[in-house]
Amino acid sequence: MTSDRRSELKFDSKAVFYAPDDATRSITAPIVMSSSFAYDADIYQRVVDGERKAVNIYGRCGNPTEYQFEAQMMAIEGGDACLATASGMAAISVALFGLLKHGDHIVCDWTTYSSTHEMLDHRLTDYGISTTFVDVANPDAVHAAIQDNTRVLYFETIANPTMKVAAMAPLVELAHARGIIVVCDNTFASPSVMRPLEWGVDLVVESASKFIGGHGDAIGGAIVMKSDRLPADFLEQIRWNTMVKWGAPLSPFNAWLLLRGIQTLPVRVERQCRTAMALARHFEAHPVVSRVWYPGLASHPQHEIASRQMPSFGAMLTFEVQDGPAALRVVDGLRLACFAASLGGVRTTTQIPATMAFLDIPEEERTRMHISQGMVRVSAGLEAADDLMADFDAALSRA
Ligand SMILES: Cc1ncc(COP(=O)(O)O)c(C=O)c1O
Repeated sequence: MTSDRRSELKFDSKAVFYAPDDATRSITAPIVMSSSFAYDADIYQRVVDGERKAVNIYGRCGNPTEYQFEAQMMAIEGGDACLATASGMAAISVALFGLLKHGDHIVCDWTTYSSTHEMLDHRLTDYGISTTFVDVANPDAVHAAIQDNTRVLYFETIANPTMKVAAMAPLVELAHARGIIVVCDNTFASPSVMRPLEWGVDLVVESASKFIGGHGDAIGGAIVMKSDRLPADFLEQIRWNTMVKWGAPLSPFNAWLLLRGIQTLPVRVERQCRTAMALARHFEAHPVVSRVWYPGLASHPQHEIASRQMPSFGAMLTFEVQDGPAALRVVDGLRLACFAASLGGVRTTTQIPATMAFLDIPEEERTRMHISQGMVRVSAGLEAADDLMADFDAALSRA
């Protein structure tokens, strides 16, 4: 089978498929660590003629291992093009700065990853790009926030850390009817759980540092596109006019680690989702837990929407204990699960969003995002669910 037939495969097969190159016949992707590539007169002329991606020039512009990662991300997200970046935040900022110019406006969900919120709220404003934050669960609010200069609607498939699930179809329809580009951060779901491009989203941004890599050992990101509203070469344009100028390429070694991670993504995430569901039910019945946010629970505000658009409910969940000190006693009391930033890896990780990832967001804004001091965010890993429950029970007894 050749790589161009990859699109006919099922998701699990796409994740492991690799067509050997003629030179090595290796059955897994090789790694190319060179930061620079030799020119000859022919290559020189091709570069002069504008054929820049087809030849290798310099590591900041692209690298063969990074291109393999891009092809693999494109396949599993169901896109037509992909641009790899140094991190998830690089993907988000390169996509937005690539799309927007001075005077443009964004409509964005109230709850997004803290650095995304801060970039929109504090940094893009310095460049004359404004944002209206709304609750995307309320289509009337999204509609009311749209202005003549609105260019982008931005939200997360499953929001960090409140697990809000965006209803894809109506949001995309509303935006496209007004000529607005839809950008969706798919990090919390991963393409195993949700593929926003299949719902009409124009650009997916993703932190590959999480479920894609899956082992907590590489930082990376990707922008994947499928859009009639953007030029077919949009991602190549922003590779050269934004990513290369900002110096945000994915390192070849990280691209190689992430490629390896993708091969086991479906099987890892399937198991992680099952464990997340078991933990969510366990926490819901626990006397010191006041609330659990997991899209798979009937108590979740968007459970119906999640059931309609996701084959499983993800491996992320959040629960609440009485206050910040109680949350700290719980996460600090864990012995099997880690008390650590990040998510999506084989090890279960926990954090207190209010005072960790969202520390720099003023309390008033955090409250509007529904992030309380007593919230504990859990990324379910691959440990045995029973062992995790015993670990959490012991820790919760300290709350
Ligand atoms: C939803 C979401 N998007 C983006 C990012 C940023 O990813 P990275 O750390 O790879 O820059 C994160 C990081 O936690 C995240 O949770």
